Amino acid sequence: MPESHPESNIESVLQEKRLFAPPPAFAKSAQVSSLQAYQELFDRAAADPAKFWGELAQQELSWFQPWDTVLDWQPPFAKWFTGGKINISYNCLDRHLTTGYKNKAALIWEGEPGDSCTLTYAQLHREVCLMANVLKQLGIAKGDLVGIYMPMIPEAAIAMLACARIGAPHTVVFGGFSAEALRDRLVDGKAKLVITADGGWRKDAIVPLKDQVDKALDDNHVPTVTNVLVVERTKQKISMQMGRDHWWHDLKQGVSAVCPAEPMDSEDLLFVLYTSGSTGKPKGVVHTTAGYNLYTHITAKWIFDLKDTDVYWCTADVGWITGHSYIVYGPLSNGATTVMYEGAPRASSPDCMWELIAKHGVTIFYTAPTAIRSFMKLGEHLPNKHDLSSLRLLGTVGEPINPEAWMWYHQIIGKGKCPIVDTWWQTETGGIMITALPGAIPTKPGSATLPFPGIIADVVDQAGEPITNESGGYLVIRHPWPGMMRTVFNDDDRFRRTYWEHLKPESGASLYFAGDGAHKDRDGYFWVMGRVDDVISVAGHRLGTMEIESALVSHPAVAEAAVVGKPDEIKGEEIVAFVTLEGSHQPSDDLAKALKQHVVGEIGAIARPGEIRFTEALPKTRSGKIMRRLLRSLASGQEITGDTSTLEDRGVLDKLRSEA
Ligand code: PRX
Repeated sequence: MPESHPESNIESVLQEKRLFAPPPAFAKSAQVSSLQAYQELFDRAAADPAKFWGELAQQELSWFQPWDTVLDWQPPFAKWFTGGKINISYNCLDRHLTTGYKNKAALIWEGEPGDSCTLTYAQLHREVCLMANVLKQLGIAKGDLVGIYMPMIPEAAIAMLACARIGAPHTVVFGGFSAEALRDRLVDGKAKLVITADGGWRKDAIVPLKDQVDKALDDNHVPTVTNVLVVERTKQKISMQMGRDHWWHDLKQGVSAVCPAEPMDSEDLLFVLYTSGSTGKPKGVVHTTAGYNLYTHITAKWIFDLKDTDVYWCTADVGWITGHSYIVYGPLSNGATTVMYEGAPRASSPDCMWELIAKHGVTIFYTAPTAIRSFMKLGEHLPNKHDLSSLRLLGTVGEPINPEAWMWYHQIIGKGKCPIVDTWWQTETGGIMITALPGAIPTKPGSATLPFPGIIADVVDQAGEPITNESGGYLVIRHPWPGMMRTVFNDDDRFRRTYWEHLKPESGASLYFAGDGAHKDRDGYFWVMGRVDDVISVAGHRLGTMEIESALVSHPAVAEAAVVGKPDEIKGEEIVAFVTLEGSHQPSDDLAKALKQHVVGEIGAIARPGEIRFTEALPKTRSGKIMRRLLRSLASGQEITGDTSTLEDRGVLDKLRSEA
């Protein structure tokens, strides 16, 4: 079991006594409209999960062929809706064309230098069919993995839906990742084709995505990739390799706009999304077709209380799970209008988010605590300049939200009338697991509140036994759910070890270990405290310490590196790297700068260390394990408490203290 650490603000959050009941006007017409209704759903799901999920799958999704068995559970491997045939692209598009949504806005897009467009369901369907046919023309068949490395433009969603349509699993790589990181993912997934753009806008600069793809594929590093499909976005000069690289706008001219959705087995691979863990390289989280479709559909519907008239905006990037589940698949499966934004607030337009809410009449706004904290810092005069009266529901995701930020969000953005859903979940869970249902569950600032119906969450101790008082422990899930990851891509063993073998209660029950610490209060509300493993969350982005350490030691000047998170007011955590140097290399500001840049080159700008601390040695146990707990205290300037008797050499600690 990893060392536990996110214990700092437990006292204060558990003393949080404010309770916000769902506003009666909201509750009245909500999808789930009372605590009693929630409780009934929850109890029904707990009593007979197969019946509960089976009924929802029947009511909510369109099937080409019904399933035989709802759940086949051979812990830790689950299969949902076996025997069924379904296609998520069909559920997100085709079925809406005959139910009155044909001319409804499916996607409202806002591009960075003021470009914008709206695609109706009929138009989105057409674009997806065209791209699906282009992919087929380029030799992509069912089962071939496609890499997607795109800016936040409609074609990113179109690419995902086109892959799903023909049964080609996708792996979306966040456009902020480096060429190295892209290459690793394409190699691991044995991708056949990459969909990218000439560039993307990031604030006022262009991110040279195609150049990065070229670098990733250079020297035949990814021999499986034989074609690259390029969307024109920025019109900057790029090189196109004959035979390999193709413009989307050229190829789409030559294909038909008719492309029936491929009937997929329920358990066919839908996508692989790489995420950081505490050990090794990022792992490919595997999600399959039917269960993911159902889970993202129903969570989006009940948690965001989706109505025909809503304009829903999730500010995530499609490169993360939040973008997959709650920009693309969940909302579109419901026939909702989803907003996609390429930009980000910058000095010249610090109020762009509020401007867009007013411009499009956004009713539901879903963002990350790190964004809320930075908006807060900029001041309330910015949102107050805009008409935010269309908003009726707010959400947060990605990290714990501190009660101050929660209250600001509630008062300044929601004007005291919008419920807030603080949604806890992970890449691995596919969809939201613990959250308020906005018309049903009273909220407490800082608590994700209660599990979604069908989710049996708990807090347990080191031995995997339930904790019955309010003290902290490990957050676990006791029963499989349709949206759960099925395995680590090509590595069942890693799946078992990472998630299922840490906590083994005497009863022999299988517990899914999420990697988070949590408390359950007297009302059964969950308070998620953050990771208990070596994963750092910077601005809500998940990074493994080991990944950053490997990047650092790949620099010729570095002998050893240990990376920890240090609390940061806005970003949640900042990366601090303790580094020992090889041979004759000497610490200097220039070297620190070079090392930071090296990490950016290896992983991407999100992994840039905030601080490099050169040291002569790292504190280790006698068995050679780096004692990160001590480094965390040092990095944040706290007193070192707790047991240090396992330290091999106490002198190292004294030295580190004096170097601080
Ligand atoms: O530590 C938890 C934190 O984000 C982790 C999952 O990260 P990722 O797979 O990148 O997915 C992020 C978006 C779903 C979790 O293990 N986390 C996510 N949501 C919350 C949270 N921590 C506290 N409260 C949340 N609402």
